[in-house]
Amino acid sequence: MRELLLRGKRIYLETLTTKVDAKMLQENINDIEQTKYMYTVPYPYTLEDAESYLKYLNSISDDSSIELGIFDNFTEEFIGVVSLENINHNYGNGEIGYWIRKRFWKKGYAKEATQMLIKYAFQELKLIRIYATLQKENTGSLALLTNLGFQVEGLMRKSVKNKGTLVDRYICSLLIEDYKPHLK
Ligand SMILES: CC(C)(COP(=O)(O)OP(=O)(O)OC[C@H]1O[C@@H](n2cnc3c(N)ncnc32)[C@H](O)[C@@H]1OP(=O)(O)O)[C@@H](O)C(=O)NCCC(=O)NCCS
Repeated sequence: MRELLLRGKRIYLETLTTKVDAKMLQENINDIEQTKYMYTVPYPYTLEDAESYLKYLNSISDDSSIELGIFDNFTEEFIGVVSLENINHNYGNGEIGYWIRKRFWKKGYAKEATQMLIKYAFQELKLIRIYATLQKENTGSLALLTNLGFQVEGLMRKSVKNKGTLVDRYICSLLIEDYKPHLK
């Protein structure tokens, strides 16, 4: 697991496991609406779920994952999580993921946090492709990704089970060449 601290205008991103304990994670993720489209997150989300997730993150010994908490610069409030997983340094690929606590939705936090991590991934990690997968019905997530310049590559039909039901998921990507114009 790569340790990181990135500072932005309203928020900073810092390695989740150094900032958040199981209780804090459980309390802030255990929401049926917030986790509706997150197939890896059960509902209800128990303290044991949070403990085993943090244990799993602490067990990652290579550079294949970055899991960051999103915090308010001024109030220090925990806003959500943004991550880069399945990082393949050989191919320059990585998978972005995110969730924002419900009361912070539609305030631009996901956009600011993902932009910060994308910039880091292209400029510092020298990745060339960032991809995301999302449930077909997750219109908020699709709006965010298209807003960031991601293109839908395809639909993976019935690819995972979410809360017991097989669901379709889009795969989207942002290539460095799509992103470079935004840096100017
Ligand atoms: C999807 C999610 C991360 C968006 O977070 P957010 O902080 O509300 O998003 P932002 O405020 O940064 O919005 C970014 C853009 O997406 C749009 N958007 C966000 N949520 C939207 C929604 N529900 N419907 C339509 N557009 C939406 C915003 O309008 C904004 O576009 P704009 O800049 O043109 O105004 C948030 O709803 C969430 O955490 N959902 C639950 C977890 C989840 O589904 N994670 C993704 C798994 S793939």
